[in-house]
Amino acid sequence: MLAGSLGAGNTYAQSQQTASFRSNALWYDTGGQLMNVHGGGLLYQDKTWYWFGEKRGVSQSEGVNVYSSKDLYNWKNEGVALAPSADTTSDIALGCLMERPKVIYNSKTKQYVMWVHLELRGQGYAAARAAVAISSTPVGPYKFLKSFRPNGNMARDMNLFVDDDGVAYHIYSSDENMDLRIARLSDDYLSSTTQDSLLFRRQREAPALFKKDDLYYLITSGCTGWAPNQASLHSASSLFGPWKLVGDPMTGPGANKTFGGQSTYVLPVPGKKNAFIYIGDRWNAKDLSDSRYHWLPVQFKEGRVVIEWIDNWDLTWFDNF
Ligand code: DGJ
Repeated sequence: MLAGSLGAGNTYAQSQQTASFRSNALWYDTGGQLMNVHGGGLLYQDKTWYWFGEKRGVSQSEGVNVYSSKDLYNWKNEGVALAPSADTTSDIALGCLMERPKVIYNSKTKQYVMWVHLELRGQGYAAARAAVAISSTPVGPYKFLKSFRPNGNMARDMNLFVDDDGVAYHIYSSDENMDLRIARLSDDYLSSTTQDSLLFRRQREAPALFKKDDLYYLITSGCTGWAPNQASLHSASSLFGPWKLVGDPMTGPGANKTFGGQSTYVLPVPGKKNAFIYIGDRWNAKDLSDSRYHWLPVQFKEGRVVIEWIDNWDLTWFDNF
């Protein structure tokens, strides 16, 4: 993936193989192009990681991009997984907004299922819908199925979470972002069930959920558009709560503004117990395509979840996990 240092004097070959995470640097794919995969999430399938995220122009939404990797460092551009439609009557007509896409695999239906926050063309953020698309392969192209408000609720920033028993959940900001809600998905992962409840009403966005030792953790941001704000961590022993506010998991310089970024996903590292990578976006509101990536190890110190800024690190961090 990564990374020339910024600006002049960048001596890296753009497609050079890399083996470390350097948040905020320019991240290149294996073809030498800058990666464009924002508000994203990952899927691990058959020893390959797939990274799905928003394809952005300067401001416009250009669908969902997907990249693949065998090592989490070097990413191959697999193209647009879900493209906006040229059909102006479609919910995903060109000009719509697709944000925070996430993909999960349903082993019963053998389908890859994508959920994405969808805003209808020309309506700003008023529509507040979830959209669902499917594919028989991880990279797609995905077929758009439908968009809706889960149980009638507004649905903006979102994530998906599959529990150990294979049951999947949609976590979403609702009621003009005042509420964070969770809905259990149907067994085929294509719909919300009516098991849909309020997590808390604290005006939070950017939910990223993970599970460690039978406890669920949820990182969220405040609501300040593209500008960074303070993260918070909640924990619960049941997905439907009660959720307890733990505080800000970010520590060190820049922590009170999430190091200039916003959460999007927490990646469990396969084969490692209790190894997780926090993934965030450092948005560039003037050119969304130039938004950068934050990848940082999640640390557990004296029972606390701690995320510190580290300029340059690699997976050997988890060697003793
Ligand atoms: C904050 C959200 O987290 C982003 O996904 C995006 O919707 C921006 N707001 C838009 O201002």
